[in-house]
Amino acid sequence: MKHLLITGGAGFIGSNAVSYFLNKYENYTIINLDKMTYAASEKNMASFKDNPRHIFIKGDITDSVLVEKIFAEYAVEGVIHFAAESHVDNSISGPDVFIKTNILGTFVLLEAARKAWINKPQNRFHHISTDEVYGSLGETGAFTEDTAYAPNSPYSASKASADHLVRSYFKTYGLNTVITNCSNNYGPHQHDEKLIPTIIRHALLKKPIPIYGNGKNVRDWLYVKDHCQAIDVVYHQGQAGECYNIGGNHELSNITLAKLICEKLNHRMKNTDIDYASLIQYVPDRAGHDYRYAVSFQKMSNTFSWRPGTSFEEGLSQTLEYYIQQYTQSTKLSDKSVTCY
Ligand SMILES: NC(=O)c1ccc[n+]([C@@H]2O[C@H](COP(=O)([O-])OP(=O)(O)OC[C@H]3O[C@@H](n4cnc5c(N)ncnc54)[C@H](O)[C@@H]3O)[C@@H](O)[C@H]2O)c1
Repeated sequence: MKHLLITGGAGFIGSNAVSYFLNKYENYTIINLDKMTYAASEKNMASFKDNPRHIFIKGDITDSVLVEKIFAEYAVEGVIHFAAESHVDNSISGPDVFIKTNILGTFVLLEAARKAWINKPQNRFHHISTDEVYGSLGETGAFTEDTAYAPNSPYSASKASADHLVRSYFKTYGLNTVITNCSNNYGPHQHDEKLIPTIIRHALLKKPIPIYGNGKNVRDWLYVKDHCQAIDVVYHQGQAGECYNIGGNHELSNITLAKLICEKLNHRMKNTDIDYASLIQYVPDRAGHDYRYAVSFQKMSNTFSWRPGTSFEEGLSQTLEYYIQQYTQSTKLSDKSVTCY
């Protein structure tokens, strides 16, 4: 049995990844270390919480005593590190915790791996990062692995700092690291605060759907299950010290995305009294809002023949079904008021 430490496995991408790895690899036991911040949910773990190959530990990645104890007690052979403060808006209003969790937390994990894995060069440390470390694009072009880092928000700066630490542990100590930088994920288990759940929830509530600025900011959308599959490939086959960009090959402006979701919801909910798109409301722009992200995943396709396998049409309809079920079966619809994403 192999022991894989996944951090942040009660969050959005982490919980999808725990589920993916448990289902695909019967010889893996997953140790899931999560602090259960506001972004985590017990519900995200419902499908695997009783799996005997899943060990949940509630704890903080910045707690070096705990992290070192986990490495020793479970003979951890690999790490996939998702845990982070992940919401850009929160990093603008309160950057402190982003510095602590995203930078110090990554450092604590690297140190624990370095100390525990002497003479174990096969043990892998996979750091999950973001395309936001590259800054913002104009109308054309896409981020490659050679694009210079130019983070613009405290969130992306904290992720960039963590990436640099990971790189330094490969260069200095020979730790077997890989980094993946992905674009915007969508799919089941995403926190209410993020753009797609916000659009769906506000539409169903018939409340104003907030869109920053003029809505023309462009994001590339990656289905979370395609992301998990790419992580699997890189974790097992990536070259030590390398970075790999993972994109969804589906760029959309925020306003186009919002209108598309409203149109699909009108149809799906057999809505006749209101066109959900009429609820769209522009709100003051996010400070330092990056205009456009686009990711070239050519290195992933050249090296591993990887490309996202889910069409946006399919991914979005699965996502809509998930949130319609969530929001129409819970009290969330009646009591939540989120005005930004
Ligand atoms: N969601 C995206 O679109 C996206 C895009 C690019 C990169 N990423 C990166 O992917 C990773 C996962 O993102 P997500 O969207 O699933 O985030 P999320 O906010 O949904 O989940 C983060 C998880 O980390 C846990 N956590 C936070 N601080 C912790 C700490 N100090 N100790 C232990 N656990 C802690 C939280 O409880 C939560 O379960 C992050 O590193 C993020 O930067 C996300």
